[in-house]
Amino acid sequence: VNARRAYHEKVLDHYSRPRNVGSMAKGDGDVGTGLVGAPACGDVMKLQIRVNPETNTISDVKFKTFGCGSAIASSSYITELVRGMTLDQASRVKNTEIAKELCLPPVKLHCSMLAEDAIKSAISNYYAKNPKAKTTNLAGT
Ligand code: FES
Ligand code: FES
Repeated sequence: VNARRAYHEKVLDHYSRPRNVGSMAKGDGDVGTGLVGAPACGDVMKLQIRVNPETNTISDVKFKTFGCGSAIASSSYITELVRGMTLDQASRVKNTEIAKELCLPPVKLHCSMLAEDAIKSAISNYYAKNPKAKTTNLAGT
């Protein structure tokens, strides 16, 4: 990697061809919406999950990010990562995993933190709307 290049090519790939950009109807009972901001820079990320209530797994993911290239790449990557996961698995995704995949430098770690916060926030929104799902999920853990 050219040291003068600001972004690693995996970041550029997600940045130039972001996966799963878009929105879902917030009001849908099977949708969880996470909206988080990074105090360090003011960037904002919205991440939405659609959950299959039978299996407690994530069947679809969409995001919209107003932020830097690393934040967009982190959100794009996490949409691919958590699709098909159970809520429990998705809630354990760490920003360090995202940062490692995208080779983010230390100053860009908070960009990947935004993605971890966003998925956690989307999951807790889904649980708030479906309190029973949490009980089922925890019981099955
Ligand atoms: Fe510039 Fe995040 S600090 S976009
Ligand atoms: Fe703030 Fe990337 S610079 S999210």
